[in-house]
Amino acid sequence: MNILLLGSGGREHAIAYKLAQSERCSHLFIAPGNAGTAALGENVDLDIMDFAAVGEFVQNNQVEMLVVGPEAPLVEGIVDYFKENPSLRQVHVIGPSKYGAKLEGSKDFAKAFMMRHNIPTAAYRTFDRDSLGEGLRFLETLKGPYVLKADGLAAGKGVLIDDDLEVAKQHLSEMLDGKFGNASSHVVIEEYLSGIELSVFVLTDGSHYLLLPSAKDYKRIGEGDSGLNTGGMGSISPVPFANKEFMKKVEDRIVKPTVRGLREEKIDYHGFVFVGLMNCGGDPYVIEYNVRMGDPETESVFPRIKSDVVEMLMHASRGTLDRYSVTVDQRTAACVMMVAGGYPESYKKGDVINLGTETKDVILFHCGTKKSPEGALLTNGGRVICATALSDSMPEALLKSYNRVNDITWDGKYYRRDIGQDLLKMMI
Ligand code: AMP
Ligand code: GLY
Repeated sequence: MNILLLGSGGREHAIAYKLAQSERCSHLFIAPGNAGTAALGENVDLDIMDFAAVGEFVQNNQVEMLVVGPEAPLVEGIVDYFKENPSLRQVHVIGPSKYGAKLEGSKDFAKAFMMRHNIPTAAYRTFDRDSLGEGLRFLETLKGPYVLKADGLAAGKGVLIDDDLEVAKQHLSEMLDGKFGNASSHVVIEEYLSGIELSVFVLTDGSHYLLLPSAKDYKRIGEGDSGLNTGGMGSISPVPFANKEFMKKVEDRIVKPTVRGLREEKIDYHGFVFVGLMNCGGDPYVIEYNVRMGDPETESVFPRIKSDVVEMLMHASRGTLDRYSVTVDQRTAACVMMVAGGYPESYKKGDVINLGTETKDVILFHCGTKKSPEGALLTNGGRVICATALSDSMPEALLKSYNRVNDITWDGKYYRRDIGQDLLKMMI
């Protein structure tokens, strides 16, 4: 079948890598894609937020499956657009309805959903401009650090964590005054959770679910988790502390009630649920839901999926995931991200990348790259390219990945040298 994948990052390159391996995939289109996805299928110049244009392309090219990489089209209702259009209704669209996508698009909606279904999460309250006074008084009743979250999508920047009460109060006023535009017209204030984070990935058809490999993401720019937040500087899958005992708690306390909640509330959801959680002394608490795969987690999770992912996604679309099980590579995948100098603040684009020599068991996923008219590979984003290595042990996987990373050059290349080190220390 013809498949259209929406998105242009490393996540989409990793998804494309698996889609293209499937015998069921006859032609893969990626919109808009990057220089890496161009080697696996056909990049098409489409605005992924222009649903009419996407729908027209799907019809004109006999596309039977639409895989949505990033959250924005889902939150804006691309699934509903396809369902409501008689000539697009039969397309298998992977993702939740607009209402289901509120699990990511509105923190308040997600928290209320967790409360309704007894899913462990930090205690919280939501405030708007009219309840600013109450919000300020609520902050006074809490102990720091204070966690303030813009309700809506804020390009990953909408969470502020302050140690100082006065700073937190100032931030609450600024957020409700439009610091993040409409996204912070409502602000969730929640209890601080202390622990280590884990990204858990679930594929659901709205009634059944499949647990995919989980991963750990490295969010900060600096080594030792210092400096500004980024889109993600690397990932490791599997995660040693996410052992059978811990994952049973995750499944029983979080995944099952989440999927039961979707079913009970009749939420149309045929897609990925990314549960960002905190391991607090051996007990999992949900920090957030995302309605898509993670980036750069997908770059370590998808290479570990041995099953045919098109078949897997067909089951998710048809509601038959109870009849499907996924086969996973038991090796460890280590993904190290290379970024442009200056990222996540201002950085250059257009530097020439030298990819060095291909190595066995190491896959390069492009994030922000493009080809020049002459065919040179150029940087085209903050996160540029990542190397994922698979090996029997984490140290070996890291070694292979870093060897590959060291062989890639461009002006201003930066990467963290400590990916996985925290996990290795925990294992000693
Ligand atoms: P979010 O956008 O909800 O993923 O939050 C961004 C980051 O803020 C998370 O990845 C956590 O590192 C941190 N964070 C969010 N909520 C909490 C919390 N309640 N306690 C501690 N850290 C949090
Ligand atoms: N790596 C975190 C995210 O994709 O949101």
